[in-house]
Amino acid sequence: MENKIVYQIYPKSFNDSRGRGEGDIQGIIQRLDYLALLGVDVLWLTPVFRSPHVDNGYDVSDYYHVDPRFGTDADLQALIDQARLRGMDIMLDMVFNHSSTEHPWFQKALQGDVDFMNRYIFVDNPVNWQSKFGGSAFEYVKELDKYYLHLFDKTQADLNWENPIVFDEFVKICRYWLDKGVRGFRFDVINLISKPDVFEDDHQGDGRRLYTDGPNVSQYLRKLGAKSFALVDDVMTVGELSSTSIEKASQYSKKSESGLSTVFNFHHLKVDYKDGNKWALKPFDFLELKHLYADWQKGMIENDASMSLFLNNHDQPRAISRFTNESFEGATMLASMIFTLKGVVYIYQGEEIGLPNAYFDSIRDYQDIESLNYYKILLKDHSEKEVLKILQERSRDNGRTPIPWNDDIHYGFSNAEPWLGFSKAKTLWTVEDALADKESIFYFYKNLIAIRKSDPILIDGDIEFIDLDHPNLFIYTRADQYLCIHNFYDKVVDYELKEDYHDVVINNYSDFKIKKDLKLRPYESVVLKKVI
Ligand code: GLC
Repeated sequence: MENKIVYQIYPKSFNDSRGRGEGDIQGIIQRLDYLALLGVDVLWLTPVFRSPHVDNGYDVSDYYHVDPRFGTDADLQALIDQARLRGMDIMLDMVFNHSSTEHPWFQKALQGDVDFMNRYIFVDNPVNWQSKFGGSAFEYVKELDKYYLHLFDKTQADLNWENPIVFDEFVKICRYWLDKGVRGFRFDVINLISKPDVFEDDHQGDGRRLYTDGPNVSQYLRKLGAKSFALVDDVMTVGELSSTSIEKASQYSKKSESGLSTVFNFHHLKVDYKDGNKWALKPFDFLELKHLYADWQKGMIENDASMSLFLNNHDQPRAISRFTNESFEGATMLASMIFTLKGVVYIYQGEEIGLPNAYFDSIRDYQDIESLNYYKILLKDHSEKEVLKILQERSRDNGRTPIPWNDDIHYGFSNAEPWLGFSKAKTLWTVEDALADKESIFYFYKNLIAIRKSDPILIDGDIEFIDLDHPNLFIYTRADQYLCIHNFYDKVVDYELKEDYHDVVINNYSDFKIKKDLKLRPYESVVLKKVI
C-alpha cells in the first residue's frame, strides 16, 4: 500500500460542471485526465452522501445515495469506472462516529422510539464535555427530557457502536460501496467511536481524554474489516485519529492484523498552537515538528504499522502559508519532505499548484461552521481585528477555497459565483499556468511521484534522522543510500557532507551541484544518492 499515492478531493471546491457555484462529481470526471497526468493512484473524495451540509457533508443523512448537490448515484458510478480506466481507484469518506440529526434513525429517535434512541447516545444527565466545534457536547431534547451526545455540531449526533444493529449497518454500507467498485475508505474520527461505560465530568480538560481511543476501537475495526473491506483485494483504508498516541495509532494500523492500512495523526500540525490551543497563534516550532516526525516514524516502523504523510487537508490551513513564504521553493521543499519520509503520501487538491491560504478579511467571507462558532467565542476576549487575524491563520476555510483552473470567469471553476471565495493571496497560480510551465510546482510533484515509484528504498528503506536539533535543516537518510536535506528557513545555511554522494535525485534549485561544503539557499531541498 505504501507505494500508492492518494489525492484528496474536496468535491465542493474542485470543479463545477453545472454552473451552480459548487463543484460536483461530473466536474471531477472532467478533470480525471489532469489527475492521471499527475500520476496519483487513489482519489479520496470527502463525503458526497446525502446531507444537509451543516458540516459540508460530515453530517450524513443517507449513506447509500449521492447528495443531489454533487449529482446522481449514476455519476458516482461513472466516476468509479472512468477513474479505473485511467488506473485510479476511488476512496470514499465514511462518517461513522455520528450521523446527521436529519438521518431517519435520529428522526425516529426524536419521536421517542426506543429502538432508534438506542442507536445514538442519550443520557439523563449530561457531563461537562465540550463539543469540538465549541459549546457543550450534549443537547437537550425537551420532548424526551433527555440529552444526546454530539462531539461535533449539535446536528451531528454520535452513534452507538455498542448496538449490533448499528454495527451491522456499517458493514452493510461498506459492502454496498465495495460492490460498486469502490476500493478505499477513509474513516472519519474513528478513534472516537468507542465511548466509556460511564460518563464522568472532566476536571482537567474538555473531555477528550475520557472519550478518545476508547476500549473497543481496535476490536470494532477488526470486526468491520473481517466482514467487509478485508474480504476484497487491494482496498486501501485510512483512519482519521483525533489526539491519539503512537501506541494506539499503531494498534489500529498493524499490518499483521486486519486493521486499517494506515492512519492520520495530527500532532505535527499542532506545532504552531500556543499551549496546544488551536485558536492561540505562535510561530511553528521547527524542532518539535522534527522530533514528532522522528518519534512517529520510528514508533510506527517498530510496531509494523504504517503512517500517513500529509501536511494539508480540508481541515487545515495551507502548509505553504503555514511553514514557508509561499514560494516555489517553499512548496517544493515541503513536498520533497513528504515524499521521502516513510508511509503513504497524500496530496490535497491545490497543493500541487501551490495554492495558499484564503486571506479573507471579513467574517462574511467564511462558511465553515467551526470558524463561525469560534468567531463568536473568540470575540468574548479578543477584538474583531484579532479574531479575523486568527481565522486568517486557523480557519478550515483556508483549505477549502475553490481551485483556480484558468483565467476565465471564476477562474474556470464555475460559471456562477462560487459558494466560497477564491484565495485573496497576491499571487494565485492557476492549473493552466502550472501545466504550461515545465518548471512549475505541478511538474515537481509529478516528478516526485515518479521518483518514489522508481525505487523501493524510498518506500521500504529504513529511516535514520541526523542532528535533529539543527535549527534550520531537517536531515535524514533512507537505507543509508539517500541523504535528504530540507532547509525550512528563508536564509542560507551551511552543511558539510560527511560521505560521498554522486547522484542528485531531487533538487528545487536547478543549478544545485554536489560539493563537500554545501550552502543551502532559502527553502532549498536536496535528495542525494550514493552510487554503489
Ligand atoms: C473530521 C473531518 C472534519 C469534520 C469532523 C466531524 O475531522 O475531517 O471535516 O468536521 O471530522 O465529522
